[in-house]
Amino acid sequence: MGDRHKNDKKIGKTFNRFFNKEPKDAILENFDASSQLHVEHILAIKPNSVLDVGMGAGGILLALQKQGVPNLSGVDLSPNAVQLTKKRFEKFGTLENTSLIEGNFLDMEYNNFDAISFHHILNLYPDYKSLITKAIELNPKVMAISMPQNLFKNRIKACFLSILVKILSFDFPFRLIHNHRPEDVVQLFTATGYTQSFKQLFKKNLTMIFIKSD
Ligand SMILES: C[S@@+](CC[C@H](N)C(=O)[O-])C[C@H]1O[C@@H](n2cnc3c(N)ncnc32)[C@H](O)[C@@H]1O
Repeated sequence: MGDRHKNDKKIGKTFNRFFNKEPKDAILENFDASSQLHVEHILAIKPNSVLDVGMGAGGILLALQKQGVPNLSGVDLSPNAVQLTKKRFEKFGTLENTSLIEGNFLDMEYNNFDAISFHHILNLYPDYKSLITKAIELNPKVMAISMPQNLFKNRIKACFLSILVKILSFDFPFRLIHNHRPEDVVQLFTATGYTQSFKQLFKKNLTMIFIKSD
């Protein structure tokens, strides 16, 4: 197994513990503000197909199905995330026209999507630029991104963490926060025919919406 696949397995395993729970319905009003924004901006283009990369417990996808989006896809490195999302769809929606796959988005063969969501994943996956490049190849009209802001205190925290990781020779599967720059994400999109149509700052995070220019 190559280094990248070993690292992918570690990321999936690390996240498993967060998705070891009972399935619950997706009630939009109970979502955090950034997930609500993803749903709202994606629905605005009346999409036929949506992909959520690193969908976790699948709340955004289930909310979109409940609002009538016909074709939904999700991919996640965590086996528990995929199982939990499947159970939620079985119980509170339908698995018809729904594709939920365990694995790395970079390894998937997909057709085009009308919209793609990255909710708190770009900041932790080491090769986030490849994730964006691959998403752009799928030609979505809308791309919804939430990630941490590039704040000084985040960079200090990450510096401290990287020193600790070095001292302990700890095999760390994620990107450290100081590597991520929302500005780079914006640049990748604007260089490939997308316009940033919306941005909202939260305390530590931000949500950005990109629309494909005609
Ligand atoms: C912080 S969680 C966020 C989950 C969900 N989007 C949310 O906001 O609740 C990040 C998720 O992304 C998944 N992930 C990270 N890199 C991935 C990749 N390259 N392909 C697929 N899933 C990935 C992880 O397994 C994890 O479940």
